[in-house]
Amino acid sequence: MRILVFGAGAIGSLFGAKLSKYNNVTLLGREEHIQKIRERGLIIRGKTRAIFHLNAISRLEDYKTEPDIVIITVKSYDTDTALKNIIDYFGKDIYVMSLQNGLDNVEKMRKLFDEEKIIVGLTTEASLFLKPGEIEHTGRGKTTIGSLKNTRFLEQLYQEFVKAGFETRISNNIERDVWRKAIVNACINPLTAIFGIKNGVLKNKVLSEIVRDICRESIEVARGVGIEIDYEDMLREIWEVIDLTSENLSSMLQSIIKGRKTEIDSINGYIYNLGKKVGVEAKINKLLTELVKIREEFK
Ligand SMILES: NC(=O)c1ccc[n+]([C@@H]2O[C@H](COP(=O)([O-])OP(=O)(O)OC[C@H]3O[C@@H](n4cnc5c(N)ncnc54)[C@H](OP(=O)(O)O)[C@@H]3O)[C@@H](O)[C@H]2O)c1
Repeated sequence: MRILVFGAGAIGSLFGAKLSKYNNVTLLGREEHIQKIRERGLIIRGKTRAIFHLNAISRLEDYKTEPDIVIITVKSYDTDTALKNIIDYFGKDIYVMSLQNGLDNVEKMRKLFDEEKIIVGLTTEASLFLKPGEIEHTGRGKTTIGSLKNTRFLEQLYQEFVKAGFETRISNNIERDVWRKAIVNACINPLTAIFGIKNGVLKNKVLSEIVRDICRESIEVARGVGIEIDYEDMLREIWEVIDLTSENLSSMLQSIIKGRKTEIDSINGYIYNLGKKVGVEAKINKLLTELVKIREEFK
């Protein structure tokens, strides 16, 4: 399978490298990272330890064939630009897969691609960008893939993910799964980013009450667009993730520490704005979005 990974940073480089064992994979990323990969291969440390020699480009114009699928791994705020570049260069007759967090990516893809071409992936694999040419596979996790309309291609892709060593399942309701992952992120990311705390600190009495409120409010907004999520079940999943990652810094906190933009608009910000449309006043999600933006501004 010819696979183009659009946005080879932490997670894109990990998936691209491991998929390259049995597929023709090209990483598209920033010049410095790509240059190092070309010079001496991509070094992966941590749970995966190897050097991968694979195609790497920093300009789409250097991709001289047509991929079977483009896997998008840019941060959610870069999805629009990525999709526009993909359409301009390849047209609409290819599969596109979002392997990102956030609630707005599928919506953005839907505006540009036919539903049968859209695949969505969610992963709890964890990866860190160490320096150009080098990443760390910090945690093994599970990957879920699904399509908006049944496509046989999904099954082929599933086989490739499994062969690459990713524990993968096919979802028959990927949109609900996107919501579930987003609600986990909505509960963990902003609070840890605002207070600069490890995930485990969220079990504090006051913070855990806020986690429950975010969960309740977000589920209500999801219900407004026809996504049913059981509160107790969702909360159980959130505490499970918090327990499993209690010593970790959330991705949003890591972005704040690095002085980078966060994905808050695609998570809590998205929930708040959608709430307005469906008649749910998502006050906590609004407040958290505003507070994270203050943290982004005052580094
Ligand atoms: N890392 C994880 O463990 C993990 C796990 C699960 C899900 N995710 C999700 O996966 C997505 C990506 O996360 P990440 O941690 O991999 O982010 P990341 O390390 O920032 O990777 C994205 C990369 O894409 C590059 N990029 C953006 N636009 C580009 C363009 N037009 N051409 C070439 N390169 C471009 C970025 O460069 P610049 O930084 O210079 O813009 C960056 O190097 C997010 O939605 C995240 O929530 C991450």
